[in-house]
Amino acid sequence: MDAETQTHPVNLILLGPPGAGKGTQARMLTEAFGLVQLSTGDLLREAVAQGTPAGKVAKQVMAEGQLVSDEIVLAILKDRLDQPDTGKGIILDGFPRTEGQAEALDALMLDRGAPISAVISLEVDDEAMVGRIAGRYTCAECGEGYHDDNKPPASEGVCDKCGSTQFTRRPDDNAETVRTRLGAYHMQTAPLIDYYALRGNLKPVPAMAPIDDVAEKLTQIVKEVSDG
Ligand code: AP5
Repeated sequence: MDAETQTHPVNLILLGPPGAGKGTQARMLTEAFGLVQLSTGDLLREAVAQGTPAGKVAKQVMAEGQLVSDEIVLAILKDRLDQPDTGKGIILDGFPRTEGQAEALDALMLDRGAPISAVISLEVDDEAMVGRIAGRYTCAECGEGYHDDNKPPASEGVCDKCGSTQFTRRPDDNAETVRTRLGAYHMQTAPLIDYYALRGNLKPVPAMAPIDDVAEKLTQIVKEVSDG
């Protein structure tokens, strides 16, 4: 199955701690299936860059590695969900992160007649996440993600996707903040694994494997839920 043969919209949630590969896998699925990636982290970073009132509040919270309030995150997510391209199917990357967000999402998707098809939980070892995040960088032009060791560009210093030579690293990608982010994940987000397991649509995926192996498993899940 690909974007052309997809039978009905697929709406996915990617759950996992910082560094689990949510953004990496979401971008790959977007390319393979034409789904729209909704990353609340990216939406918040845009708000910070634009200096909106929400962005001004979020800036400090994100720098400390804590969660931004449900109120701000939900307002940003609703705005993005209201755009017409989301009808093709979505991948939620980094949302929901609290039970309040999960309940609000249930109501939003019910309103839209677009249920969540599957919740993919990327299972990883915390300690390895610090190294993954410390080595991460992004093309400043097109946003393609790279890693110093695990995913360098084919030609050193040149983006594989767009040829840009400008790259950026996130201000919250340092060892201390990553540990705070991991703590926030275990306290506030990991309980959602049980939340979705009880609803019967949780798909755990071992995600310490190489990026392409994880992508293969996710592709199988998208095909199953799309056909089912
Ligand atoms: P956000 O931007 O969502 O960051 P995060 O959850 O901390 O996740 P990351 O982007 O760090 O990791 P990822 O899982 O996407 O990993 P990636 O694919 O890049 O959130 C940032 C902040 O915004 C939060 O701390 C919070 O303040 C706020 N926020 C966002 N959403 C919120 C919400 N809903 N509510 C409240 N606050 C919110 O991979 C990492 C690296 O590893 C890459 O270099 C990649 O190449 C490499 N890699 C990936 N997979 C593999 C693999 N299988 N093997 C080897 N290397 C791999």
